[in-house]
Amino acid sequence: MGMPTVYTTAHVLSSVISTAKKSGKVGFVPTMGALHHGHLSLVNKALEENVLVVVSIFVNPTQFNNASDLSNYPRTLTTDLELLSVFDNVIVYAPGVDDIYPKNDFFEPVDLDGLDTRLEGEFRPGHFQGVVHVVRNLFNIVQPHRAYFGEKDFQQLAVIRRMVKRLNFPIEIVSCPTHRSENGLALSSRNMRLTEQGLEDALLISQTLNYMKNLGHDSTPSKVMELGTAYFSKGNLSLEYLEIVDAESLMLLTNQWSAHSVCCIAAYCEDVRLIDNLAL
Ligand code: PAF
Repeated sequence: MGMPTVYTTAHVLSSVISTAKKSGKVGFVPTMGALHHGHLSLVNKALEENVLVVVSIFVNPTQFNNASDLSNYPRTLTTDLELLSVFDNVIVYAPGVDDIYPKNDFFEPVDLDGLDTRLEGEFRPGHFQGVVHVVRNLFNIVQPHRAYFGEKDFQQLAVIRRMVKRLNFPIEIVSCPTHRSENGLALSSRNMRLTEQGLEDALLISQTLNYMKNLGHDSTPSKVMELGTAYFSKGNLSLEYLEIVDAESLMLLTNQWSAHSVCCIAAYCEDVRLIDNLAL
């Protein structure tokens, strides 16, 4: 234990990883820092299955379509490293922009069968191609056996799985359940920007999802969305979308439930954009 070693350049990191691969599998947890217990659970899971775990900390500019969202994104490297210091066999990759996006970097948008244009994609155009770009570059640098992603970013997980298939990465994608505070708020780095009152108000997000889940499948998805929207409107958050979709295709469900239906929500609380989801 102790502070993890931090690498800032791909070539030094790669040689450490190549050595580790001689004794076993390498796991990878990509993050944008501002670590919380959700991230730490990904690291824990990765440590159970690999001899070495690489955690990347990089606030990726290409996935932000709003300059103020990018500049307001929390950056807490010292605390992040302290949080990781409880683990053995964890190293950190905290590169600068030039290391991830070298001059000769070439990227063509990846065909994600529309998974990137639904839900988040409608409100954050280009966001998922930015995610795919950085994760592709990170995968090429780290070349892990397994990579770990949280289910809180449900659509991101679907997008990454599709990218891995499209680009033939020999990497197993492992998903881990959403971590919540005691009162149900999904853990997110963005929660750091909320006041006490905001943290209280934001509970409406998970309360709405649970309310909708409790309605069951007797009514149509359309009716459940209508009731959920009405429930949500009693609070003082501003709703961006609340949709029940098929978990595979992310297509909106209206009259029929699918084998795996999931409700996805995005809302603003004190100007902070929060997302969550729940299988219904
Ligand atoms: O989920 C995140 O934190 C980011 O989208 C990721 C996967 C690290 C890419 O920048």
